[in-house]
Amino acid sequence: MVLNPDSELHPSLRGHHLVQVTALPTVPAVLQTNSRFLFVLAGPLKALYQALSLAYALGYGTKPAKWMMVQNPPAIPVLAVARLLSYMRNTRLVVDWHNFGWSILALKLGKRHPLVKISEMYERLLGAAADKHIAVTKAMATYLETSLNVLATPLYDRPTLDFQPLTNGARISVLRRLLPTKKYADEIAAGSMRLLVSSTSWTPDEDFFILLEALQSIATRRNLPKILLVITGKGPRREFFRSRVESLEATGKLQNIKITLDFLSFPDYAALLGAADLGICLHQSTSGLDLPMKVVDMFGTGLPVVGWSDYETWSELVTEGVNGRGFRNRDELAQLLIDLLSNQTAIEILRNGALKESRRRWADEWNITAGDHIFFPEHAKSE
Ligand SMILES: *[C@@H]1O[C@H](CO)[C@@H](O)[C@H](O)[C@H]1NC(C)=O
Ligand SMILES: *[C@@H]1O[C@H](CO)[C@@H](O)[C@H](O)[C@H]1NC(C)=O
Repeated sequence: MVLNPDSELHPSLRGHHLVQVTALPTVPAVLQTNSRFLFVLAGPLKALYQALSLAYALGYGTKPAKWMMVQNPPAIPVLAVARLLSYMRNTRLVVDWHNFGWSILALKLGKRHPLVKISEMYERLLGAAADKHIAVTKAMATYLETSLNVLATPLYDRPTLDFQPLTNGARISVLRRLLPTKKYADEIAAGSMRLLVSSTSWTPDEDFFILLEALQSIATRRNLPKILLVITGKGPRREFFRSRVESLEATGKLQNIKITLDFLSFPDYAALLGAADLGICLHQSTSGLDLPMKVVDMFGTGLPVVGWSDYETWSELVTEGVNGRGFRNRDELAQLLIDLLSNQTAIEILRNGALKESRRRWADEWNITAGDHIFFPEHAKSE
């Protein structure tokens, strides 16, 4: 397994007798820039640096294998290097399509930027050159078939076993341990305050200001419980958001609402989801074909989800009114929060749906799709 230096390795893989981990070197700071202008220069140099270190890791740092599986994105330079090295080492290449790198780049540079055009061409050409394909949604599999002419096996992401529903006793101890004050923990346990949780990398494809404005618009409403919103994650736009929250708090615009920005370890995050009342997802799909992993994890703990739903694949993941609710703008979100936070029955219906969803785990999905169709076709039952 070849891993980015900033990715966290799942604990179950650490020290596993079948897993060897090779870490890639960190990209030098001079090549990491958020400036749109410098990006045109530093971007290609960073890609070159990554290409060379990845080629070294795949060519020398690891033993040849029968299969190589890469997640896309990142497409640049991974698809090219993986394709080249897998040819050289007689390895079969599987691309696990989660999204399109160019659609994310387009968010930064604009759809018509030449770098976006080039990276789209690159991704289509090299992606299609892989031997097998896994797609994160059915819609993505269909797109790959019609637009790249490749057959992909849809494989839904499922939560790891870290994400589990909590018993009431466990919930209270998690609340006491992870929330900023014991008062909040007690109020949430008693139901006079609701715990809303979201996670983000603070990237431009997630607009947390929609949530902030929705909360602001319901802050003065009567008959609503208090709200504690915990947003966990690090990223470029976090401090800007924090300053906005602070100024709203200072002017009394967030009465009865407390917002904390946190960064939790993986197990603490899983525990917090299990203890929350409602998960919030602001992922706005760049391709319309991907799925937010955070919703998968929320379902793992039996947590119902309220999320931005204005893209094709939302309904592959969330069943409206059964395990979550979707919104397409600030006003719909505000209305949803009012409906759910003031109505215990409504939220319990969703929780039951999410609890059903929590039983669907990774091995169930993997064995019958990727396992049988891609890696061990001889196991597949004849249809
Ligand atoms: C509460 O939610 C349930 C289920 O969605 C709904 O049938 C009921 O009318 C709601 N009650 C109120 C007071 O809105
Ligand atoms: C999936 O397959 C593995 C390996 O064949 C097997 O050990 C495991 O029990 C299977 N799990 C499920 C849920 O089918």
